Amino acid sequence: MSTKQAYVQVSGLRKHYGDGDARLTVLDGIDTSINRGEICVMLGPSGSGKSTFLNLIGGLEDADGGSIMVDGCDLTVLKPTDLGEYRRRELGFVFQFYNLVPDLTIKENIEVTAHLSKNPLNVDDLLRSLGLYEHRNKFPRQVSGGQQQRCAIGRALVKNPGLLLCDEPTGALDYKTSKEILQLMEDVNRTYGCTIIIVTHNAAIARMANRVLRLRDGRIVEDGLNESPVAAAELDW
Ligand SMILES: Nc1ncnc2c1ncn2[C@@H]1O[C@H](COP(=O)(O)OP(=O)(O)O)[C@@H](O)[C@H]1O
Ligand SMILES: [Mg+2]
Repeated sequence: MSTKQAYVQVSGLRKHYGDGDARLTVLDGIDTSINRGEICVMLGPSGSGKSTFLNLIGGLEDADGGSIMVDGCDLTVLKPTDLGEYRRRELGFVFQFYNLVPDLTIKENIEVTAHLSKNPLNVDDLLRSLGLYEHRNKFPRQVSGGQQQRCAIGRALVKNPGLLLCDEPTGALDYKTSKEILQLMEDVNRTYGCTIIIVTHNAAIARMANRVLRLRDGRIVEDGLNESPVAAAELDW
């Protein structure tokens, strides 16, 4: 047994929606652990419960059973105010659709969450590393989808989160832009040391992961370490 404590430790996690005939079990006893600094990719077909899993780890939804330990703290027993503090302090979220504020500039979209953190990253430095510095005064509609997603990643990262949760982050992007975004995540993982969980139905992305989880019918059917992850630039699909 490893003596290293997992950063994220999920045990017996259960979640259902609806009741009676409409009852749908989405997560049917999930056990896994993710170490600090890992890139973890969770695969699974559409409807298999990937977003639900991520929302539970992110404290956006309540579990029906089981525990979710993040950095030694069980989310399932936290009071709502403490859960809010956990989300502000520890987490960055990236979604398929960027959810930027349309009437704030690229820079302002990032600054909004910088204010939530006690030790935010320098916004101009971050804009440069995202390749957005020269676009900082534009509005989201004036830049490409890939640049909007870079901004959304910046908004998540500026807080300097321990955990970056990404739900189909390349789902709305073309092949070339998807690879650029995955390379950016790889850089972010190296530079800032944050643990990254990416959920996707694109199996090719798993090749860049340190850990691969596969979800099917509410259960984890594969949980393994990838001994030799491939650089995001080398992915192909
Ligand atoms: N709020 C909800 N109410 C009822 N059913 C839901 C809700 N959210 C998700 N579901 C259902 O749970 C299942 C898993 O959804 P989801 O976690 O979004 O899967 P994935 O992200 O893998 O596509 C789907 O059948 C979906 O329709
Ligand atoms: Mg989903």
